[in-house]
Amino acid sequence: MTVEYQTRRGDIRAVNNVSFTLEEGEMLGLVGESGSGKSTLGLSIIRLVPHPGVIVSGHLRIDGTDILNLSEKEMRGIRGKKVAFIFQDPMTSLSPVKKIGAHFVELIRTHEPNISEKEALKRAKTTLNDVGILPERINDYPHQFSGGMRQRIMIALAIALSPDLIIADEPTTALDVIVQAKILDLLKSLRDTYGMALILITHDLSIVLERCDKILVMYGGSFVEYADNKELHGNPIHPYTRGLLRSIPNIELAEQKLEAIQGSPPDLLSPPEGCHFWPRCSFAKKQCRMERPTIVEFGPGHLVRCFKEAERF
Ligand SMILES: Nc1ncnc2c1ncn2[C@@H]1O[C@H](COP(=O)(O)OP(=O)(O)OP(=O)(O)O)[C@@H](O)[C@H]1O
Ligand SMILES: [Mg+2]
Repeated sequence: MTVEYQTRRGDIRAVNNVSFTLEEGEMLGLVGESGSGKSTLGLSIIRLVPHPGVIVSGHLRIDGTDILNLSEKEMRGIRGKKVAFIFQDPMTSLSPVKKIGAHFVELIRTHEPNISEKEALKRAKTTLNDVGILPERINDYPHQFSGGMRQRIMIALAIALSPDLIIADEPTTALDVIVQAKILDLLKSLRDTYGMALILITHDLSIVLERCDKILVMYGGSFVEYADNKELHGNPIHPYTRGLLRSIPNIELAEQKLEAIQGSPPDLLSPPEGCHFWPRCSFAKKQCRMERPTIVEFGPGHLVRCFKEAERF
């Protein structure tokens, strides 16, 4: 899929021909620095890229149906019901003047109009219980909860209709580390219980390494590397992925030299020619500056966009 923000200053290609497959029940970590296109990709999956964003090409198949061909009305039936989205800031989705229970009733009855209010509230209570919130708090307003609890409510709303896929965009960035770990563990355990697929978007590779089955690394709108967790951790290929791994502190190593990746991400209004990463890459050669590398399958299910690897074949 390719997604652009068509601004007056020019086109920003925020997602540049990115492709991946997600199996039922799989947990995919989408990682990359700020501005690498993670949120744009996530929002494209529910067709909610904000103006002036446009999905310029690609396919997005859910169970074989290309949702890019669906009408807006059909799409509303997919959002929440088949694919749910959890935003970084719960207050963007929760109305301050509505009780928690009313949020559930509205969501459930939009998709299942035959369900009575009483029935919807009953389901809301069970779901709240699943995420560790006392069911009687259904009568409270969003402001009566802490940030971490509000995020739990968002998760409860996301699972209320048993979607096949949940996309969580930096769901814990605004929370302290302890609450963050609890929320991420909760998401994983709900995935284990209910079996929905999950895309976890974060700039923090260590979070993804701890919890996800597969990892997709993005850089400057491009796919750079994709592999299962163990493979990516044990056998990272792309210089950018290696750089990210070297910048994670390891509590078991007494003296560890952390390395930052030199330089800064590209300006997507005028990205560098060739590989977007070359200005920061110590392996860059002439070809990298002239041409965009294609994706190479380094091993089974291990894909890398880098010339250094293509040479080996
Ligand atoms: N509404 C918009 N209009 C114009 N450009 C945008 C818009 N939203 C995002 N962009 C640009 O698209 C690119 C990708 O942005 P995106 O928000 O998808 O990145 P991200 O990886 O989610 O970053 P972060 O970690 O900061 O959330 C960036 O260059 C950004 O400036
Ligand atoms: Mg983002």
